Amino acid sequence: MNTATARAHPNIAFIKYWGNRDHELRLPSNSSVSMNLSGLFTETTVTWDPALNHDRLTMNGMEAQHDATNRVVRHLDAIRNRFNIHAHAIITTQNNFPTGAGIASSASAFAALTVAAIAASGQTVSEREASTLARLGSGSASRSIPSGYVEWHAADTHEDSFAETAFPLDHWHLTDIIAVISKAHKATGSTDGHASAKTSDLQAARVAGAEERLKRVKAAIAQRDFPSFATVVEHDSNLMHAVMMTSQPPLFYWLPASLALMARVRQLRADGLRVCYTLDAGPNVHCICVRDDAKAVRQALENLSITEDLIVAEVGEGAQIISSA
Ligand code: DP6
Repeated sequence: MNTATARAHPNIAFIKYWGNRDHELRLPSNSSVSMNLSGLFTETTVTWDPALNHDRLTMNGMEAQHDATNRVVRHLDAIRNRFNIHAHAIITTQNNFPTGAGIASSASAFAALTVAAIAASGQTVSEREASTLARLGSGSASRSIPSGYVEWHAADTHEDSFAETAFPLDHWHLTDIIAVISKAHKATGSTDGHASAKTSDLQAARVAGAEERLKRVKAAIAQRDFPSFATVVEHDSNLMHAVMMTSQPPLFYWLPASLALMARVRQLRADGLRVCYTLDAGPNVHCICVRDDAKAVRQALENLSITEDLIVAEVGEGAQIISSA
C-alpha cells in the first residue's frame, strides 16, 4: 500500500487561535474551539514513490507555486521523520471552495494531507497523534481532524497540543452562512499574522481572557444557549481583530461591507433571529445561526445585495480516508 486519498473539512473558530507560544511547533498562545464545516472539503491523494527525487504537488489541477510546495515539503519532512519514510511523494489536492478568502483552506488542506500521507505509508496512528501532526502544518488543521465541535488544547509540548471532539456533530444543529465579500487572495496570511500578534499591546489581554471565554462558549454549546453563545463568539472575534488592527504593521481585514454585515447580523438578532457573526483573517462574514433560523437569515442577507456569494455549511465530520491502495 503506498497511495491514499483523504477528505477533510475546514472549520470556523468560535474562540480564535491568534499568536503562538512556539512558532516552529505551532504551539498556540491560547486554546481554541471550532466547528467543522460540512459540504466544504479538501480532497488529497498522496503516493509515496521511492523512485522520485523530489515531492510533486498539484493543486486544483495546476502545478503548485513554490511557496505552497515548500510548505507541503516541510510538512512531509516531519511525517517522513516520524514514520521513517525514505521516499518522495506525488500529492494532488483540490478544494471545492475558494482558497485564501477567510475560509480556512490551510486547515482542511493540512488535515487531509496528514491523514493521506500517514495512510499511504501503511501506518495507523491515534486521532490525537494525527491532530498533533496536522498542527505542525497549520495550527487550525489540528481542529479539522476530529469530528463535530472541537477543542484544541494549548500546551507547552508537541505531544500535548492536540484537538479533540468537545461535542458530537449532532449535539446542536448550527449552520454557518458565509457571506463572501471577496474571493481575492489575502495580502497577509495567517502565519505572518501569528508572528506579529505579540506586537499589539492588546494581545496579552486577549490571551489572558481566552480560557474564561472558552469555558463560557463550551457551557453555551452544552446547554444550546444561543444568546450566551452569540455574546462570547462576537466578542472573541472582535478581540482578535482589535489585536490585528493594533499590530505592527497593522492588519485590517474588515472591509466596509464586512461592517455593514456585522451591523445587519446584530439587528437580525435584536429582531429575534438566532444568529451571530465571526470573522477569520479575511473580510468574509461567517453568520452562525441555529438551523431553524437559517432560511430567514439567508433571505435577509440576500436582500442586502452586498455579498458576492453565500456559502452554507452545517456541522461537519472529522478527516477521513476515502480510499487507499
Ligand atoms: C484567524 O491555522 O491558518 O483563522 O498555523 O500559520 O497555518 P497557521 O495559521 P492558521 O490560523 C488560523 C487563524 C484564524 C483563527 C482560527 O481559525 O482560530
